[in-house]
Amino acid sequence: MIVTIDGVAASGKSSVSGGVARALGVPYVSSGLLYRAATGLGLEAAVDLHDAPALLSHLQSHPLRLEPLAAGNRVWQGGRELTGELHSTRVDRGVSVVAALPEVRAWVDAQLRALPSPFVAEGRDMGTNVFPRAGAKFYLTASPHIRAVRRAQERPEDVPAIEAALVRRDELDRVQSAPAPDAVVIDTGPLTLDGVIQTILAQLPA
Ligand code: C5P
Repeated sequence: MIVTIDGVAASGKSSVSGGVARALGVPYVSSGLLYRAATGLGLEAAVDLHDAPALLSHLQSHPLRLEPLAAGNRVWQGGRELTGELHSTRVDRGVSVVAALPEVRAWVDAQLRALPSPFVAEGRDMGTNVFPRAGAKFYLTASPHIRAVRRAQERPEDVPAIEAALVRRDELDRVQSAPAPDAVVIDTGPLTLDGVIQTILAQLPA
């Protein structure tokens, strides 16, 4: 079975998906990491991030491999691990431009659909576009302020700057971020990480 966990930026998707995946004994798949890796490679090669043919040709000549481990996803370009460089403010700023390119979305979707199930898939459009027949779908939300306070524990920036960047990214990602009509929407604001994980596990089909 495939479980999808979508949601807005910094809503806790990766931590929640990792926890749900570990409880189920399956991997989780971070689609955002592939968009981040495409952005990171594009920035590194000074490719114009709006130029879909140039970016795609660069990605095709530098194939990426997603390693969907339950303990945390990793992404590789050949023998080089990119994971550690992809959660920077620079990648955050460019990634929505890259994710808006239909050619890049098709490139990511093809890699995700080729993965052997079962797994937990997290992102924006896992339940709507990529795995519309998933066995269970969830969508995580929280106010921009709460998300910024949480993210400030991981980034050397202050809460107002992070909150403004999150609101901007929500807006840029709005097109692909609508919850599936059959998704269970969870406001993670009042819940702990474990509370969100248990809420999801309690609603999975037997
Ligand atoms: O989940 P994360 O914040 O790491 O995703 C990074 C970016 O990748 C998002 O801001 C969005 O632009 C893009 N993304 C997407 N569709 C997905 C997952 C991520 O457009 N399924």
